[in-house]
Amino acid sequence: MFDELNSRPADSLLALIKAFQADDRPGKIDLGVGVYRDAMGRTPVMRAVKAAEQFLLETQDSKKYLGPEGDLQFVRLLQPIIFGKSPTFTQRLVGIQTPGGSGALRLGAELIQAANPSAKVLLGTPSWPNHAPIFSSARLPVKEYAFVDLASQQVIFESVIDALSSAREGDVVLLHGCCHNPTGIDFTMEQWLEITELLVAHRLVPFIDLAYQGLGDGLEQDAAPARMVLDAVDEALIAYSCDKNFGLYRERVGALYVMARNGDDLRKAESNMAALARVNWSMPPDHGAAIVRTILESAEMTAMWCAELEEMCQRVNGNRAALAAASPDLAFIARQRGLFSNLAMSKDTAVALRASHGIYMADSGRMNLAGMQPADAGAIVAALRAEGCL
Ligand code: LMR
Repeated sequence: MFDELNSRPADSLLALIKAFQADDRPGKIDLGVGVYRDAMGRTPVMRAVKAAEQFLLETQDSKKYLGPEGDLQFVRLLQPIIFGKSPTFTQRLVGIQTPGGSGALRLGAELIQAANPSAKVLLGTPSWPNHAPIFSSARLPVKEYAFVDLASQQVIFESVIDALSSAREGDVVLLHGCCHNPTGIDFTMEQWLEITELLVAHRLVPFIDLAYQGLGDGLEQDAAPARMVLDAVDEALIAYSCDKNFGLYRERVGALYVMARNGDDLRKAESNMAALARVNWSMPPDHGAAIVRTILESAEMTAMWCAELEEMCQRVNGNRAALAAASPDLAFIARQRGLFSNLAMSKDTAVALRASHGIYMADSGRMNLAGMQPADAGAIVAALRAEGCL
């Protein structure tokens, strides 16, 4: 039967990991897949994660099954970090542990499909390349609209307004909570307010993807837009990832939260989430979530985590400042937030940057600014100039 299959290309973003490793030029710079690098160029295991792993090694006495919802103490302890301390949200939300933010998106997509198969998903582009395939593979139609003009590095806000105003009641709007991937361009609070008003007026359901909390302006600031939206709407989904802010990438740690109108709806959503998890992965992997839970159960480890996350955030913003200072044409990079910025360039140019300069970025022109050192700014600007990008 497998002769019936068509071969599919490797994911071009993930393929960069191997291509970079295979390059033996000493000056190569990895701005590809979204991982953080410290001043030594390493993607370290965070100090609090090491401490939690040590604690788990000494104290964990069983690895028996937990169930499709995973570690619910992990899910609960994340809530004040994401949603703040107000009890309003806690009563209106249910959550389940998922394999990474991608698992949360996939589970959310299937939940939407089960609840309202005629819902469309509105997706501003460019977006994370995996967003549209995740929703489409859950049999939800994706309606794309232009979100950012890369040439001017500006939000096309009229296009956002048009898309939301012409959506049908019950349609789902995918929103990046902070640190937009791939552009680094987030809505202003005024724009978030307008979006919130449209969501309420047209009875649309926000699906907030929050994968970089703490890496933009700080944990609280990065959660503020999502909290404002959730305060106003009566139904929502939130896909959360601990990959980046706990540096747990390959452990696959995430959660899906659902906000519903009342207790009955919450219980229905919860039982469907558990049933969908069961047929997808049965139970999520435990280790990463146990690490996060252990950190959040300890005031000392939590303080250690917050301090290191703050250092990471400052380093990424320092890299942004260094690149912006190296060329006035890149000044916008200092105003953007999170790991990424997306230059307007062709795939050929991205390929030439790799081949001729050893600078690895996504074919789309997305750069991971957390992958560079401030001292790399000159080389990056020179390469961009040589390839006609500046
Ligand atoms: C990225 O966008 O680089 C990361 O989220 C990794 C991935 O899975 O694509």
